[in-house]
Amino acid sequence: MVIAIDGPAGAGKSSVARSVAERLGFTYLDSGAMYRTVALAALEQGVEPAALADAIRIELGDRVRLEGRDVTREIRSPRLSEAASRAAADPLVRAAMVAHQRRLLSEGDWVAEGRDIGTVVAPQAELKVFLTADPASRARRRARELGIDARQVLAEQALRDQRDATRAHSPLQPASDAVLIDTTSLTLDQVVDRIIGLVAE
Ligand code: CDP
Repeated sequence: MVIAIDGPAGAGKSSVARSVAERLGFTYLDSGAMYRTVALAALEQGVEPAALADAIRIELGDRVRLEGRDVTREIRSPRLSEAASRAAADPLVRAAMVAHQRRLLSEGDWVAEGRDIGTVVAPQAELKVFLTADPASRARRRARELGIDARQVLAEQALRDQRDATRAHSPLQPASDAVLIDTTSLTLDQVVDRIIGLVAE
């Protein structure tokens, strides 16, 4: 079974997806971590992300590894958020990442989180959730996580939202059969309970 959780930055996808996976005993897939890791490898090697998207070895789990090296922390920086969003606009990069994600999701029970899980990666998912929240509270959450200024996060987030939503390939948008949840005034537990309820239905 696949549960798809999509939405913009800071809507709570990661915490919600992790928590739903834990409660159900499913495996958690962070597709954004793949784009971040490809972007990191490309920056380090001074090449375009598409040049290595097919060839690099990314391992996901409790830690994220690039060719065996632990990059879990490094890929969370604002610099890598920006680089990942640029890399993700390239159709060659997307094709490589989507193929990898589909291979993983083909067996077992998953909670997969990203931008295009319900629309492209796993349109057959049994449950699709699209999380949103107002931009200011998304920026506040992210600023708290990173310990940086919320105004700076808001400006960078607006740029990234705009790029993710308007790119030609797999733009960020809810699947037609996704359940929309606005998390602005909900706690993590309320969102998780809601999704567990939907799974039960
Ligand atoms: O955690 P946050 O939402 O800030 O970012 P993320 O999920 O780690 O994704 C980083 C970037 O990768 C996003 O801005 C998207 O451009 C891209 N991405 C994507 O295009 N498709 C996905 N399934 C996941 C991420």
